[in-house]
This record gives sequence, structure tokens and C-alpha cells, in this order.
Amino acid sequence: MAGLSLRRTRLNPAIRELTREIRPVVGQFIQPLFVVESLSEREAVPGLNDVWRDTPESLVQQVRADLQKGVSKFLLFGVPAEKTTANFDHSFTAAQIARVRQEFSDDVWLAADVCLCSSTTHGHCGIVNEQGDYVDNEDSVAALATAALQYAQAGADCVAPSDMMDGRVAAIRTQLDNAGLDRTLIMSYSAKFHSGFYGPFRVAADSAPGDNIKLTDRASYQIDPARPSDAFLSSQRDAEEGADILMVKPGMPYLDVLADLSARIAKPWAVYQTSGESAALELLTQAGLARRERINAEAWTAFLRAGAAMIISYDARHAHDWLSSE
Ligand code: PBG
Ligand code: ZN
Repeated sequence: MAGLSLRRTRLNPAIRELTREIRPVVGQFIQPLFVVESLSEREAVPGLNDVWRDTPESLVQQVRADLQKGVSKFLLFGVPAEKTTANFDHSFTAAQIARVRQEFSDDVWLAADVCLCSSTTHGHCGIVNEQGDYVDNEDSVAALATAALQYAQAGADCVAPSDMMDGRVAAIRTQLDNAGLDRTLIMSYSAKFHSGFYGPFRVAADSAPGDNIKLTDRASYQIDPARPSDAFLSSQRDAEEGADILMVKPGMPYLDVLADLSARIAKPWAVYQTSGESAALELLTQAGLARRERINAEAWTAFLRAGAAMIISYDARHAHDWLSSE
């Protein structure tokens, strides 16, 4: 009778722990936060577990609670009350960045998402032309660079453009450097796909495109899921323009892209476990068909296996508990 070969290293918790190659830890997580100007009380984001549209007050409480859970890195989405089509006012979001910095000093690492979709009447990530059928690149980049500069001046450690316009990383880097902000990082959403997994986010950020406009989706600026080569070109270009951190988004449906790009481009890679992905795992849990601790730990392990250095997850605030329960 033949003896064991590979099963010997699977036999008990001790040998399984010793032979493990991937170990997600809470320190590599970034927690998204939404702060919404128009609210008097915070609201839950539909579909997600313990994720909120915060008021400025509740935002500070949430960050304090997250720090207790070992989470100290954040990605902030500001949602202003006033929507317009140009000449945006970024002061609400800038003020929230300044407040978090003032309250928590260097105890938090704060990235600010840079986009226009929470500020526009139509929900697109840039400035739309008069005919309502095209997002103008040049005008959008100028407006994005202005926002990034204001967020950096307010105290963000990092600015994270999520709009997918051409040339915005270079424009942002130039603005930051000219203002003496050469220590502010840029995390580029460099491989951001035109995905159906963004549903809960668009409710949270008040940014669903298509209201009163011909252009109903983001296909003319986000990457087609069937074009991995476009994701490579976009990431390579953003690295050349000065991005410090690159990103693949969504995560689970694009693990192949993450593995390929992280092997080909030697930059720190982030992966964004999107709102739709987290909601899917939450629905499995609520249907009694899985445990959220286990399926999230499994997804996070897959991200690291595929080459991510850091994970942006709506469940970052539970990572410590969930990972230690597995
Ligand atoms: C838009 C933006 C999106 C996300 C961050 N910024 C998605 C989109 O609407 O295109 C991520 C969404 C998620 O977590 O689902 N600038
Ligand atoms: Zn956007």
C-alpha cells in the first residue's frame, strides 16, 4: 500500500499553519468611507454589512471605532449636497479631510478619492459636452487636478483618481509638485473596468450616471471587461505619468488581470473588492449558504495570491476578527 505524499502537510492545524504561503493581515487593508453633506443622520449603504453614508460627526466616530479594530488606512469619498455640471466646489470634501487629519493626526493614513461623479448633476465622472453625448477629456482633467490639489492641501496622504480620463495622473502630479506637495502619493485606479459590480457604491456616492442625459453609462471611459490589453496599457501609462500605486478593480472577476499586471509592472498593486462583490458575499451569508468570515478570507487570500500588496475592502473593519476566526 502506498503511503501519504502531499496529504502529510495537510493533516493538522499546526502543519497547515506552518506551510501556508499567504497570510492576509489587517495592516494591508484600506477601509472606504463615505461622508455625505445632505444628511442629518447616518444611513446604512444598501446591500453591505456595517457600511455607512456618514455625516461629518459620525465619520469621526467611525474612524475612531475603526482604529480600535486595527484599521488605520482609509479611502474617503466625499458627497457634496450641491450638484452641478462645471466649476465644482470641493470645499465640503476638503473640510472633511482636514477634520480627520486634525482629529487623528498621523494615526491615520488617508487617501481621498478624486472624481467628479458625486458632484455632477448627471453622475458622470467628468464634464460632459453641450450635446450630452461625450465626456470631455481636457476639461475633466483640469477639474480633477484642481480637486486633487485641494484634497492634498487639506491633508490627504494620497489622492486616488477614479475617473479614467487620459492624462489625469500627470496633471495631478504637476499640480501637487508645483504646490510643494511632493510627498503626497497618487494611487491610480489604473485598471478600472466597466463593471456591473458597482451597484451599492452608486447609491452610497449618489453617482449613478444617466439622469437626464443621452450618455447613460461609463463605457466610453472605463475599460471593457474583454480587453485585458487595455488594462495593461492604462496601468503602464499611469506608472509612467507618476502613479505610486496602481489598482485593479473589481477584484474577484479580474484576478487574471491582477496576476498578469502585477508580474509585468513592478509597482505596489492595490485591488478593490467592489461594493457588488461584497454585497454578493453578504447575500450568500444572509441566505444561509456561506459564512461571511470564511468567504471573505478566501477572497482576500486570492487577491494576495494574485499579487496584490493591499486590499481595499468595505469589510476591512472586520478583517482582524474574521481572519482570526478562520
Ligand atoms: C466612480 C467610482 C466607482 C468606485 C469608486 N469610484 C465606481 C463607478 O461608479 O464607476 C467603486 C465602486 C464600488 O465599490 O463598487 N468614480
Ligand atoms: Zn466617478
